[in-house]
Amino acid sequence: MNKDRLIIFDTTLRDGEQSPGASMTRDEKVRIAKALEKLRVDVIEAGFPIASSGDFEAVQAVANAVKDSTVCGLARALEADIARAGEALKGANSARIHTFIATSPVHMERKLRMTPDQVVEQAVWAVRRARAYTDNVEFSAEDAGRSELDFLCRVFEAVIDAGATTINVPDTVGYNLPTQFGETMRLLLERIPNADKAVFSVHCHNDLGLAVANSLSAVMNGARQVECTINGLGERAGNASLEEIVMAVRTRQDLFPCDTDIDATQIVTCSKLVSNITGFPVQPNKAIVGANAFAHESGIHQDGVLKHRETYEIMRAEDVGWTQNRMVLGKHSGRNAFRSRLDELGITFASEEELNTAFSRFKDLADKKHEVFDEDLQALVTEKGIEAENERIRLVALRVVSETGEIPNADVTLSIDGEERSVSAEGGGPVDAAYKAIEALVNSGADLKLYSVNNITSGTDSQGEVTVRLERGGRLVNGQGADTDIVIASAKAYINGCNKLLEPAQRAHPQVGDV
Ligand code: KIV
Ligand code: ZN
Repeated sequence: MNKDRLIIFDTTLRDGEQSPGASMTRDEKVRIAKALEKLRVDVIEAGFPIASSGDFEAVQAVANAVKDSTVCGLARALEADIARAGEALKGANSARIHTFIATSPVHMERKLRMTPDQVVEQAVWAVRRARAYTDNVEFSAEDAGRSELDFLCRVFEAVIDAGATTINVPDTVGYNLPTQFGETMRLLLERIPNADKAVFSVHCHNDLGLAVANSLSAVMNGARQVECTINGLGERAGNASLEEIVMAVRTRQDLFPCDTDIDATQIVTCSKLVSNITGFPVQPNKAIVGANAFAHESGIHQDGVLKHRETYEIMRAEDVGWTQNRMVLGKHSGRNAFRSRLDELGITFASEEELNTAFSRFKDLADKKHEVFDEDLQALVTEKGIEAENERIRLVALRVVSETGEIPNADVTLSIDGEERSVSAEGGGPVDAAYKAIEALVNSGADLKLYSVNNITSGTDSQGEVTVRLERGGRLVNGQGADTDIVIASAKAYINGCNKLLEPAQRAHPQVGDV
């Protein structure tokens, strides 16, 4: 039997990035987009171009870099938003504009201060306007999960007539339950007379931990596009996780009438890349991509798996890319091997000088750690590596003394705007001492909201990857650092966070503000 295609629309770079502290640079977005293209994602939502010039440039860079996936830009139902999205997507092989307006009573009355008639009119106008840039136009009814069914039918019928090719039904606040949400999808498809002229899509948030279940229920009831993110990254409790959706549909082909085109062997690589770049660690027991997702601890399970793996395994670790973590380079590898492996990972350099800096970092690392994995290479070129060269505050030297029965002490030298300054401080532990010394030099005044350490690969010579979350005046930033010495990694992470606080703040948020 020929199955329907389930379109995978990845919004890691847009909704995922709306997670406080998860913002990404243009180059990081391009790197993730290239990995998503390799994963064979159908549509990549690259950002919200009107939000800031940085967002615009990032969407433009992704549109130029990606060839096989459709690249999408988000726009409120406003002239300026749609024009900016159209402009940013000019270079794309295949472009989509995603325009939206809220349809729930509370959003229309309290946020938009518009009548339902005005909302329909604005939605139709926005879709027509977007069609002037591309014939691939998606319309979303924000807060559809709390909208009236009759009104949704009215808006959707009107925007399909106006030329929308995808109709998205978001559960913006994660309020729905699986059977109910599935029923909504079924009724929409049944009642909207021109429903067959568009692909129906779902976009679920995870406030009640039901984003994946709600999305799958909608698929069972006729949705043929799912909007999701790698590792379930996203606003508040996140979006539906791409890896869970894809593997549920693939593992239960006995029940689903559709399948995706995803190359699942790329899932773990994408998960690690997103976690690495955003600094959001993956919990060990996370389905599919958690470190323990395929680990059998109990004797009974181990015995069963050894006798016949299907006794306790419904998927194979290698099918989602767990064994792709191969050793790629070592201390004797040359510059060409280094450049070509980075190329395969979608990492390119703006200049020979940048490549040389990265190569010398790689040589330093290979001296300390004889097996260098893809994840190590990725860490080398993120904020933890090459981009740190351009930061205003840089770590010059760190010496820590930690001894049983003695108070730990750290001597830190930083370069701040090119001027070197040193200080000594004591602390409750070596990291605390280093942070006190850095703070004495930087005076950031930031509150440390989160400090987490993970190993990038396995083994005691693995690089430690540290994430800190700093808060100052209501602004949240993440800082990351990686090194085989976790005190140095911790110092780099704190300094990286301080550098971000020095950058100009913030950009517009798509779901805040009036139409
Ligand atoms: O959650 C939401 O409603 C959104 C829309 C912009 C699709 O992210
Ligand atoms: Zn959303």
